[in-house]
Amino acid sequence: MKNEDVSMVKWYKTDRRQVARKRWALLAEALFSKCRQSAAADSNFFDIFKIIPLPNLSSLDDRWFEYSVIIDHDHDPVSVKIRHLVRIFTIEELTGFNNTGNVKVWPSEEVLAYVCLKHRHFFEDKSVLEVGGGMSCMAGVLLSQLAKCASIHVTDGNVVSVDNVREIVKQNVPAKCPLTCDVLLWHEHGKHCRTYDVILAADCLFFEDSRAHLIELMFALLKNGGISLIMAPKRGDSLAEFVEQCRAKGFVCNIHQEYDEIIWSQHTKLSKERTDYDEDVHFPLFLVLEKRKPSVPSTLENTLWSS
Ligand SMILES: C[S@@+](CC[C@H](N)C(=O)[O-])C[C@H]1O[C@@H](n2cnc3c(N)ncnc32)[C@H](O)[C@@H]1O
Repeated sequence: MKNEDVSMVKWYKTDRRQVARKRWALLAEALFSKCRQSAAADSNFFDIFKIIPLPNLSSLDDRWFEYSVIIDHDHDPVSVKIRHLVRIFTIEELTGFNNTGNVKVWPSEEVLAYVCLKHRHFFEDKSVLEVGGGMSCMAGVLLSQLAKCASIHVTDGNVVSVDNVREIVKQNVPAKCPLTCDVLLWHEHGKHCRTYDVILAADCLFFEDSRAHLIELMFALLKNGGISLIMAPKRGDSLAEFVEQCRAKGFVCNIHQEYDEIIWSQHTKLSKERTDYDEDVHFPLFLVLEKRKPSVPSTLENTLWSS
């Protein structure tokens, strides 16, 4: 298991009294991981993206990479330029808001981006919000290159992450739809005055303190009949607890394991061949939440799978 994964495991397995101490451990790791971060475009096991360094754009504070992916063989590769932070964080940044999204692009974000691109026709004319997108918001940014959405709004609660995403948005003029970016704290969703057809999130379910806020946000900011598409590993009981609370809130929830042939075959291979691959923290499950009454037939989830 990689160092950053160990930190995350420690984070979600800890009890509340230890959260602050564990947060310090994670942030300290970010502080001392300048070298590792400079090579931060690691493969995340699934090898979905070809990742090429862009030295001409990079500086002492950042490393730019081109992420490109072939979605299907009758389509050119889709690519975006993604900026990774390589910096010593100030003490205010380290002690301030959750910094996990500045460590790396997590596997769930890459897999979410890939699955959204594969089902890009589903997003046509839909308004899309990404929450907790970290320093890349890669799912939303990539989708803006290929899907004719009505709009895409990418967000995170961490100001450093959002500043980074603003740089990414400047470098990747959206090809297909309007793309905007802002800070959105889950407990402050009441300040946000619009609703969406689709909400995206990757690896955001393990924060015990803010899980309820995230569910409230999704319920409040989804239109009636809207859908949340979430990638997240199990991370102990965290995904199960999230699902239980979502059902209690009134969402119709479905969890998918074999949602994509390529990801599933990679997962099967990794499970057999790699001792450092731990399904609990590395394999993203696909959670689909629909804001509809169970008695009302699903329209969106069915459309997603047929798109
Ligand atoms: C593990 S990171 C995942 C980032 C990105 N989705 C990825 O997979 O690379 C979790 C993200 O959730 C964000 N986050 C955590 N709690 C939050 C909250 N209460 N409000 C807004 N964002 C939050 C963090 O800033 C961080 O970027």
